[in-house]
Formats: sequence, C-alpha cells, structure tokens
Amino acid sequence: MRFQIDPNDRKPLGRTGETVPAIGIGTWRINNYSMAETALIRAIEVGMNLIDTAEMYANGEAEKLVGRVCRIIGRDRVFIVTKILPDRFSDQSKVIKALEASLRRLGTSYVDLVLIHWPRPGISIEKQIQFLEATVEAGMARFIGVSNFGVENLSRAIRATKKHEIVANQVKYSVLDKQVEKDLLGFSIENKILIQAYTPLEWGGVAKNETVISIAKKYGKTPIQVALNYLISRPMVMAIPKTERVERVEEFRGSMGWRLGAEDIEILEKI
Ligand SMILES: NC(=O)c1ccc[n+]([C@@H]2O[C@H](COP(=O)([O-])OP(=O)(O)OC[C@H]3O[C@@H](n4cnc5c(N)ncnc54)[C@H](OP(=O)(O)O)[C@@H]3O)[C@@H](O)[C@H]2O)c1
Repeated sequence: MRFQIDPNDRKPLGRTGETVPAIGIGTWRINNYSMAETALIRAIEVGMNLIDTAEMYANGEAEKLVGRVCRIIGRDRVFIVTKILPDRFSDQSKVIKALEASLRRLGTSYVDLVLIHWPRPGISIEKQIQFLEATVEAGMARFIGVSNFGVENLSRAIRATKKHEIVANQVKYSVLDKQVEKDLLGFSIENKILIQAYTPLEWGGVAKNETVISIAKKYGKTPIQVALNYLISRPMVMAIPKTERVERVEEFRGSMGWRLGAEDIEILEKI
C-alpha cells in the first residue's frame, strides 16, 4: 500500500486550517429537483454540508436549487463550491460577471470555494489564477481552486498564486478509475491540496464490481459505502457523490466513521 490510511472524516482545506467533510454532495444531472432539495437538506443536517455545483449544471438550475436549500437551512450552514466555465477566462471582467451571475442564482454574496471548471487552453495558467484570485479580492469567494488539473498545470497554478493559495483540485477518482494515484495524489498530499473526487460512484458502476461486492459483505457495508471509504481513506481526499435520494444520503453517511483494513485496500488497489 503506497498511501497511509487517513482515519479522519474531516479533511483539511489546503493549508487554510479549515476542514470540510470527507463526503460532500454533487448536483450534476439532477432529474427531480424537489427530491434533490430534500436530499441536500438531509445531507447538510447530518454534517455532509459541502455542496458542489457549477454555472454549467442544468444552465444554472443546479445553483438555483442550492440557493433554495441555503434559504431553507441557513447560508452559514453550507459550504458552497461552484465552478466557472473556462470560456470566461479570456478576461477578468468576464470571470467576475460569471461569478456575479452564479451568486445571484445562489442567493448569496459569496461562495466558499470557486474553481475553474477545467484549464482554459490558449490562456496561460498564470493569467487564469490571477483572474481567480481577483474573485477573492472582490469578496465573492473565500477560497480558490481548480478542477481537472494534472500535476503539471497544478504545480504551475500553485506557483502562480500571489496572495490566495489553491486549496483544492476536483478530479475524477473512483475505486474503478485510479488514474489519480499515479502521480497526482502523491503530489497533492505533499503540497496539501485537497482532492475532491468526482464521479466516485461511476454512476452506480462501483456497486456492480465483484471485488467491491465481496469486500462489502465482509464488513456488513454496501458496495457504495466501500467504494467511498476507499477514497476517503486517502490523505487529502474527499468525495462528492451525487444523489437526489434521501436514502442514498444515509447510505453515503455510512461510508464514514470506520475504515477498511490495509489488506482490503490493497485488494481494491489492484482492480
Ligand atoms: N469538476 C468536474 O469536471 C466534474 C465532472 C463530473 C462531476 N462533477 C461533480 O461530481 C459529482 C458526482 O459525480 P457524478 O454525478 O458524475 O457521478 P457519481 O456521483 O459517481 O454518480 C451519481 C449517480 O449515480 C447514481 N447512483 C448512485 N448509487 C447508485 C446505485 N447503487 N445504483 C445505480 N445508480 C446509482 C445516482 O442516482 P440517484 O441520484 O438516483 O441516487 C446518480 O445519478 C457531480 O454531481 C458534480 O457535482 C464534477
């Protein structure tokens, strides 16, 4: 096993001294907004209060949902992550305008974390980071991060920051897709960048894997819980599975509070 097991269900937000829950909830491709509202409220109530959204999701409808949820439960109880489309990064004013529109949909004056959704080709990483930092300077975001950045772009981004550190990198990572473990995970642990693992359930695919199923039986857990536990066992990794079902929120919750043994992590590493 290459990585130490992290027993904590709260994860460091970069070097900020703040922590976030090991499991947050995603909001991409929601079908039933009323069910999703109930599910998000439940997640926040039980401590999985990091909600991931983006201006891109359902053309802003996902952000509006998060806004409704915040109005019901209280803005200060939610850690909001949103993402700005790379297209906006051709100039500073476009980035600010895009985030202003997100804030209007979210019904708040700030997000906790703003990310560039994926690197914008044709504009230097340094410029992109400068534009992101300006959102914090403007009081529109508390922290900045990136998404879909590999080691090279991420290290450039870290070096480019002037005043506000990169606290997180949102990337695809699941027990069935461990590309991240090649070099990005080690780099992120070393540099204290929080990895937010997206598509951690492979749209339910992890629950069909025989190895995951047999380990789940051994622990009396569900395959989804094992798949999430594998990810949050890694230092500097949290996961952001999506669901619009309150019962699945409870299932996600059951992926915390325990850890797989090292020998089973080794078996899962080999899938
Ligand atoms: N930064 C990026 O570029 C990026 C890219 C992709 C995703 N994301 C973020 O990450 C979040 C999660 O990723 P994701 O939505 O792609 O995928 P995911 O979390 O791996 O899968 C979510 C889907 O799996 C379904 N599911 C859960 N358990 C299941 C089971 N046992 N059997 C069948 N289906 C099951 C859920 O349905 P129910 O809703 O019915 O439970 C949901 O539709 C997104 O919502 C988004 O916030 C970010």
